Amino acid sequence: MVEPFDLVIFGGTGDLAVRKLLPALYHRFIDGQIPDSSRIVGIAREGLDDDSYREQVRETLGKTSGADKAKIEAFLKQVRYRSLDARKDEGWDEFAALIGEQPEHIRVFYLSTSPELFVDICGRLGHYKLNEGKSRVVLEKPIGRDLDSANQINDAVGRVFDESQTFRIDHYLGKETVQNLLALRFGNALFEPLWNNAHIDHVQITVSETLGTGNRSSYYDRAGALRDMVQNHILQLLCMVAMEPPSSLAPDAVRDEKLKVLNSLKHIDSSNVAQLTVRGQYRAGVADGAKVPGYLDELGDTKSHTETFVAVKAEIANWRWAGVPFYLRTGKRLPDRVSEIVVAFKPVPHSIFSADAGTLAQNRLVLRLQPDEGVKLWLTIKHPGPGGLRLRHVPLDMSFAEAFGVSQPDAYERLLLDVVRGNPTLFMRRDEVEAAWRWAGPILAAWSASGEAPRPYSAGSWGPSAAIALIERDGRTWSEDSE
Ligand code: BG6
Repeated sequence: MVEPFDLVIFGGTGDLAVRKLLPALYHRFIDGQIPDSSRIVGIAREGLDDDSYREQVRETLGKTSGADKAKIEAFLKQVRYRSLDARKDEGWDEFAALIGEQPEHIRVFYLSTSPELFVDICGRLGHYKLNEGKSRVVLEKPIGRDLDSANQINDAVGRVFDESQTFRIDHYLGKETVQNLLALRFGNALFEPLWNNAHIDHVQITVSETLGTGNRSSYYDRAGALRDMVQNHILQLLCMVAMEPPSSLAPDAVRDEKLKVLNSLKHIDSSNVAQLTVRGQYRAGVADGAKVPGYLDELGDTKSHTETFVAVKAEIANWRWAGVPFYLRTGKRLPDRVSEIVVAFKPVPHSIFSADAGTLAQNRLVLRLQPDEGVKLWLTIKHPGPGGLRLRHVPLDMSFAEAFGVSQPDAYERLLLDVVRGNPTLFMRRDEVEAAWRWAGPILAAWSASGEAPRPYSAGSWGPSAAIALIERDGRTWSEDSE
């Protein structure tokens, strides 16, 4: 159980609150981790009251795993609602009085709104002295849309909350497999000696989704895949793979190492953007067995150049990783929902086997984030039985669900309670966000300077053919996790 807290969700009726945050809190509640006196306060502009908000939450939770009527009702007793506009003072006195009722509680202000509102919300939280006591603020991504706007937001938040009170969330860091990467790399003597450019050929990070942009297209069209997924989630995964061993799991020990990786990323700009990146936009096609419209039709704007797919060949300029490409790709309306990291090792230096034994394939370590979280290590072995020495490439396969018999908690469950506990290890520090924008900004600028439209790809395909060419030019292929 954590200390009693009041958790306030700005954007309390929004997609993230409804789909992720409230179910995550409910799951922690049924596991007995949330003290009875804790309160969860939804804030939005809609004129709801506690009961009508609870009705919405009841409906959402009714569809979540572990839904149980009595437990949902018990949870709802802790839920409140206040209608507030971040840009007007009306209602803030009453809200401050509500929070003031339990001054000893930890206060968490979760800003799950558009980032344009972060400045106003924090300004008012400061004005009404809600930043006092044991208070923390959680900032949802995207933090700005470039370095300048991120700095403006961080400066404004920083005038009200210290860096130690500021939790910039990247929910990928709360995923089990990502944390398991820490355990795997630093809890086993086996991998670290091989974890460098002498032994690793390349790394692939894929986050593919079958869904389109759906009802988020007005947000998405201003963001695009590089801002929505790469600048944050995928770079964070890259950092976890590439960072030097931190001396401990202390928040700054880990974040210092991640920052060094971000600062070592090779610059991509107009001079090399065409060789190192591919951006795509989906057209009509078939996804999840159904015909789906193209991005422009969904958006109702035929001129948008927003990318729904991106592939990048990233490189890290330091001793450990020089010469090891990190191929990154992500997109909407791809054939499968898969997030995985593939570490491909170099081939053996010399083969002692005859040609009819079969080909020697690279060892690959595959960390699957979703679905079916687990780890696979592809090895070469002898096919059992007589008939000569025939080589086979097979995985040592550990599915977490099978191995531990438990389903994985959603990333937000872990992260929300880490905020309450005041542990920022799995959150981004301001300088990390800035370093990530310093790398992503010039790519965005180069795309926009080129004036070129993203390459079209059919919904249900693996993106534009140029993304395949991006890796094949180097004599490599995107992993299908089947060799
Ligand atoms: C969000 C992005 O941060 O992550 C979405 O804004 C994306 O566009 C989502 O769909 C993917 O998260 P997950 O946990 O489903 O892989």
